[in-house]
Amino acid sequence: MNIMTRGDIMAEGKGYGKCILFNEHFVVYNIPSIVSAIGDYTLATVEPTESGGVQLVDNRPATPGYKEDKLEHQKDSLRRILDAMDINQDENLKITLGGELYCASGVGASAASCTAMARALNEYFNKGFDDDRINDIAYEGEKGYHGNPSGVDNAASTYGGLIWFVRGENNIFEPISLNEPVEIVMGNTGKVANTKAAVAGVKERKEKEPERYGGLFEDARKLALDARKALEEQDIKKVGELMDLNHRLLQQIEVSDESLDMLVKTARDAGAVGAKMTGGGLGGYMVALTPGKELQDRVATAIEEKGFKVLRTKIGV
Ligand code: MEV
Repeated sequence: MNIMTRGDIMAEGKGYGKCILFNEHFVVYNIPSIVSAIGDYTLATVEPTESGGVQLVDNRPATPGYKEDKLEHQKDSLRRILDAMDINQDENLKITLGGELYCASGVGASAASCTAMARALNEYFNKGFDDDRINDIAYEGEKGYHGNPSGVDNAASTYGGLIWFVRGENNIFEPISLNEPVEIVMGNTGKVANTKAAVAGVKERKEKEPERYGGLFEDARKLALDARKALEEQDIKKVGELMDLNHRLLQQIEVSDESLDMLVKTARDAGAVGAKMTGGGLGGYMVALTPGKELQDRVATAIEEKGFKVLRTKIGV
């Protein structure tokens, strides 16, 4: 007799990488931010096993040291995801992570994996959760990595597109439309960064210097409003100028570092209309706004010639 059991099922789910264009770190404190999903994604597959509980096989391409460094965070994150989905921690199943998203700090690799796993488990266990629920589960998973995530990364990873995101009692997500997608280059410093420590550092300095930080945070709020207007008006040159200013603010709250500043300068010198660090900082990725294939190639090549890896992608897809 041929009985259908869960043993016949294999399920999969995707989570997109992301690029924060404005206000990483500030977003943790309810200052508006602008984030875009990128085309590269992590793919999770779930399949049954005979025994051994939940196994996680991580085949994602990554910066050397990245996966080893994040292993404990990843285990904590998976436990939180299973809890949030009401799935027994002892289920016999194998989760495999793959896809082309090159994992490094700043590209939303943790959020992409949380979203991909939540989607694949949703499918496997037939939970019927919608995107809002998947986003909430991915947010729970992100806590394993960040401690106090704002939710911006998992929002981009789950919903895709270009998003105005404001953290709050009820987070605000508003899509921003571009007439056409715009090319960007993401340059990888190759340094594995610790977002949790970077976020904690900002908190500490903000508490020590409330007045100076208050002023910088106010500047970041105004900058986000200007950036949204510039994007809505498709004024890409202005968007680039505002990205440069945002990088300056991020330097002032001490989340950039020499390697990021150097790649930002390389991109600007090669003609990028704007460039800044992106994500948690202290290593990881930077982003350059490079409308048109030709400019994108020129900036990417300038970074590659310095011996760094790049990701050529687009925002507003
Ligand atoms: C990390 O990609 C973005 C941060 O703002 C942290 C967060 O929002 O959770 C640094």
